[in-house]
Formats: sequence, C-alpha cells, structure tokens
Amino acid sequence: MDNTDEYLYEFKGYNFEKQIVNIEHLEKMEDFEIKDDDVFIVTYPKSGTIWTQNILSLIYFEGHRNNTENIETMDRAPFLEYNIHNLDYDKMPSPRIFASHLPHYLVPKGLKIKKTKILYIYRNPKDILISYFHFSNWLITLESTDTIENYLEKFIDGKVVGSCWFDHIRGWYEHRHDFNIMFLSYEDMKRDLRSSVLKICSFLEKKLSEKDLDAVLRQATFQNMKCDPRANYNSIIKNEIGERDTGCFLRKGTIGDWKHHLTVKQNERFDMIFKKNMKDFPLKFIWDINDE
Ligand code: A3P
Repeated sequence: MDNTDEYLYEFKGYNFEKQIVNIEHLEKMEDFEIKDDDVFIVTYPKSGTIWTQNILSLIYFEGHRNNTENIETMDRAPFLEYNIHNLDYDKMPSPRIFASHLPHYLVPKGLKIKKTKILYIYRNPKDILISYFHFSNWLITLESTDTIENYLEKFIDGKVVGSCWFDHIRGWYEHRHDFNIMFLSYEDMKRDLRSSVLKICSFLEKKLSEKDLDAVLRQATFQNMKCDPRANYNSIIKNEIGERDTGCFLRKGTIGDWKHHLTVKQNERFDMIFKKNMKDFPLKFIWDINDE
C-alpha cells in the first residue's frame, strides 16, 4: 500500500490512522523509555479498549473512583502511538497507564526488558467487524464503507487501521513469552465483570477494598460509561476529531450483535477464513451471549 491513501499510513507493515498519527513520534517509539511499573492495555481496535482504560483508571486513581477529579480517560490512559492531547509522557506520574493498538513487533524495546505488565484484551472478530464498520462510518478520520459486504473484504485484507486482526492476535499470542502479558476476553468481562476485574487486580498486584471494588464495577458498566463524559470519547470525537453522522462510542456493548448484520453467506465466508487463519490457536472465542 502506498502512503497516498487518505486514511491509512503504513509504517513497517502496519496501518496507522493517517490524519492523527505523528510520523516523528512513530519513528522514535521503539526507543520510548519504558518503566517497570508502566501498565499497557493492548488491543486490536473495537475490542474493548476504552472499557479497559476506564477500569484501570478506576482501579489506580482514587480521584476517578470517588469522583473528586474530573480527568478524561483519554488523559489518564493515553494511546502510546496517538498522542492526541500532546501530553508529556515522560512526565506522567507513575504508574503510567498506556493504551495501544500496536502489533507486538512495533512496541518499545523496553517492554521486553522491563517487568511492565501488559493486558491484552481480545474480542470475537465478528463483533469487532460490526463495531468497526459503524465506527468507521462515524469518524471523519476513518474511511467510510457503504455496505458490510464491502467492509468485510477490507477487514479480512487488513486494509483498515490496525491492519489484519488475525496477525495482531496471533502475533501477540505467539510472542507472549517475550512479555509480561495477560490475555483476557471482552466476552469474559461482559459475562462476569466482577471476576474479570479481580483477575485484572491480581495480575496488576492491586488490592481493592470491597467498597472500592464495588465502585469500580458500578462505574464500568455499559450504561454508566455511556452517560459519563469522562468514560467515553463522544466529546473528543465531536469537538476534536470530527464526525460524519451522529454516533456514539458506546454503541451496543453486547456479544453476538454480528448475528443481526451478517448474512448466512457472509458468515460462512468469515468462518472459513477464521478456520484457516486460527487453526490450532488455543484461546477460545465466545460468539454468542449463550455460549458455554
Ligand atoms: P460496540 O460497537 O459493539 O458497541 P474500543 O474501545 O476498543 O474501540 O471498543 C469499543 C467497543 O467496546 C464498542 O462496541 C463499545 O460499545 C464497547 N464497550 C465499551 N465500553 C463497554 C462496557 N462498559 N461494556 C460493554 N461494552 C463496552
């Protein structure tokens, strides 16, 4: 792909969001200084990034949890590769929390050397596809697509920001031993938020009182986040990035919405490609709210 594309900027085989990426920042990212107590949330787009950013923010920042501070999630847990608010990452107080969609081979070298914890959140790719289709039609900085049929092809070919979903998850999983990483699924979070937050706390070695845990769980629900301007990017999108139509960052927040959008034929095509690409892949995917 050449970089004349209006929406995608390809750098070392991976597609970035052209209109917001800073190439100088990208070129220096490999050497970005990592600290042992940094925490990274890594996801493929539309896998529950903002949800996890909010959860970690609630776990780490008392002022967020008890509502005494009014800092947006985006500034609590900024994207490493897209420094939208031009924060000075070196001066952020520790522990710093970063979100990232980077593939395993583009992250700062320090992540392999330090004890830095990485939380990889994954989601069934059919729901990602549908979520991403709507999101791309909403944001002015992403390429819109008229039909799901056409979007399906782009998604499968990785002609989207974040490149190919299959490569992203396989790459991170296959290189898991190079990092201090925990994998957790969106669907696990959706089906049992309490035990997922406890798992996250245990990985992060953070002990919350019952009262604080309850506050995290209360504030991290879909309904709450949808109404809490700190916990979704609606105003950043409206006021800073730009939107095509009206939209909403927290759209449906369910498991299995793909069933309302994919035709039988599209679903079969996706299954065939999934089978081919994910053969022998050990992580389990939940496709339906009723799956065991
Ligand atoms: P949908 O478009 O399917 O609703 P990301 O932050 O990686 O872009 O992911 C966005 C997706 O996560 C959206 O999916 C959004 O609704 C969902 N999401 C965000 N917060 C959530 C929450 N508290 N509970 C369930 N889903 C949530």
